[in-house]
Amino acid sequence: MQLLDGNTLSQQIKDELRDQTTRIVESGRRAPHLVAVLVGNDGGSETYVAHKIKACGYIGYRSTLIRKESDVTEAELLARIASLNADDEVDGFIVQLPLPKHIDERNVLEAIEPHKDVDGFHPVNFGNMALGNRALLPATPAGVVEMLARYDIETKGKHCVVIGRSRIVGRPLSILLSRGGAFGDATVTLCHSRTPDALLRSLALQADILVAAVGRPGTITADMVKPGAVVIDVGTTRVPAPDAKSGWRLRGDVDFDAVAPLTSYITPVPGGVGPMTIAMLLKNTMTAYQFANPA
Ligand SMILES: NC(=O)c1ccc[n+]([C@@H]2O[C@H](COP(=O)([O-])OP(=O)(O)OC[C@H]3O[C@@H](n4cnc5c(N)ncnc54)[C@H](OP(=O)(O)O)[C@@H]3O)[C@@H](O)[C@H]2O)c1
Repeated sequence: MQLLDGNTLSQQIKDELRDQTTRIVESGRRAPHLVAVLVGNDGGSETYVAHKIKACGYIGYRSTLIRKESDVTEAELLARIASLNADDEVDGFIVQLPLPKHIDERNVLEAIEPHKDVDGFHPVNFGNMALGNRALLPATPAGVVEMLARYDIETKGKHCVVIGRSRIVGRPLSILLSRGGAFGDATVTLCHSRTPDALLRSLALQADILVAAVGRPGTITADMVKPGAVVIDVGTTRVPAPDAKSGWRLRGDVDFDAVAPLTSYITPVPGGVGPMTIAMLLKNTMTAYQFANPA
């Protein structure tokens, strides 16, 4: 069994982006600029955004954090998005999710100019991804594929079973893995909450590459994993942990201790897919910069 080390890979990607940024700035051009919009003061969102801003500093990107109170109206938020869309000094921006309940998430995400949509959530980017056209890819699925590629784990001809069909993880990942080309060409089965339990278990057991993106610890047990399979755990659930300083600990969807010995490769939680997601957001920011400022 080998651990798929997202921390090390994400550091490599950040170092590559840092080198690229240094070259851009040395050539007299401005550095890429990422803006994060944070609504309210959800603890998890604060932490994620802080990581993203810190990573921008490391790479040499310019970054801006825009805070809005949790009672901001949808109209005010949409107006701010329109001004970011129009700002030539902003290459990409994200609106950190989740948003307060009175704001329609879909309206907000669809208001982002697709070329600046570095989370890759806009329907135009989703459609171009599905068609294999140039697109800003959703960061978590792109991070999973990047991880497979950097560990040289072949997907061509393999049976990948993805559990979870959300717009931001499971469904786009199923498309990326089944597209033609490098680190695609897999035969993909997509399972969800309406997949009967016995069917889900039998499909999981046939998987060469098993991806869990459910958000429910203990979803994948050892009796669901084929010996030698690659197991990717996207799930991150905060569970109470009185011994931890924060009072909680992150758990994936996979029963790691029982499953890991059976696998060829497995991602830990934390330290697997999570750091890759941030790395791909930063990579998308470079791609968005290059779209807007061709060398
Ligand atoms: N590491 C990272 O960077 C990262 C990034 C994004 C998300 N995540 C984590 O990944 C997990 C999934 O996130 P998400 O945004 O995709 O969640 P989501 O929108 O809640 O989607 C969960 C998916 O799991 C399916 N599901 C629920 N219970 C199931 C069951 N018993 N058996 C089979 N499928 C089941 C749901 O099916 P239905 O569609 O039928 O409801 C849904 O498709 C969460 O823990 C989240 O925190 C991690």
